[in-house]
Amino acid sequence: MDNRPIGIFDSGLGGLTCVEPLMKALPNERLIYFGDTARTPYGSKATKTIRSFSTQIADFLVQNDVKMIVIACNTVSATCLEDLRYRFPDIPIIGIIEPAAARIARSCSSENRVGIIGTKVTIRSCAYDHCIRRLNEYIQIYSAACPAFVPLIEEGIIHNDIMDLTIRYYMDDFVLENRIDTLVLGCTHYPLLRPAIERLYPDMRIINPSEEIVKSVVSVLSERDMLSGERCGEDIFYASDLSENFINMINLITGGSDARIKFKNFDIEAISSEQS
Ligand code: DGL
Repeated sequence: MDNRPIGIFDSGLGGLTCVEPLMKALPNERLIYFGDTARTPYGSKATKTIRSFSTQIADFLVQNDVKMIVIACNTVSATCLEDLRYRFPDIPIIGIIEPAAARIARSCSSENRVGIIGTKVTIRSCAYDHCIRRLNEYIQIYSAACPAFVPLIEEGIIHNDIMDLTIRYYMDDFVLENRIDTLVLGCTHYPLLRPAIERLYPDMRIINPSEEIVKSVVSVLSERDMLSGERCGEDIFYASDLSENFINMINLITGGSDARIKFKNFDIEAISSEQS
């Protein structure tokens, strides 16, 4: 048994799509979430920059005595998972791509045409392709970067015509030309677009990696006997630039009335200048 909190992070509010199923699956666990809202998006930045940002955040979480780190970000998982595991060998670190790839390999066959959408960095890394092919080399994989999705979502532009047009701009040709029948939401922001994508492409099956990572968290904590015996203390949601949109999104997920939730602004630049 281990009553310490779980640390979870993303470049912004996308990781909250993992928090919702995580809270449902493990109501006794306390969470420390970090959204790097001041520096989002990560998905068009250099790997070196993403590595430096995610190391700062992981250091911060470890200083807060977390028992596990959940990388609720495909971009960081695609580029920095092994670096973070090397830096913190004693803490289980769960990336989002491995559990999602396992689900794809399990549930798709050579008949399927699997489309992966994600940030430029995730798509360019081919991390999904490599992970899936290690498990099932016959699956047909196609991928497309959709870099404008994250900035729009961070601005709260989700359920309207601007977003519908943006989705169609990136996806119409991609889906049609490749005859995609299964779509993987390879960025943790994208599950927020799921209702719109389902409306625009009603025949496509959707795989949501944010749900898959939670299954991995549950099994790793159970196997290592690290589940929390009781819920002690509050969940803390840090943001490097605490915006109204970030707070609204958390209130939406939690019902907005949970007194055990605290929001805090954390000036990540203070850490970076100390380190330089
Ligand atoms: N939500 C993140 C991901 O899963 C990062 C998006 C970004 O910052 O570009 O890739």
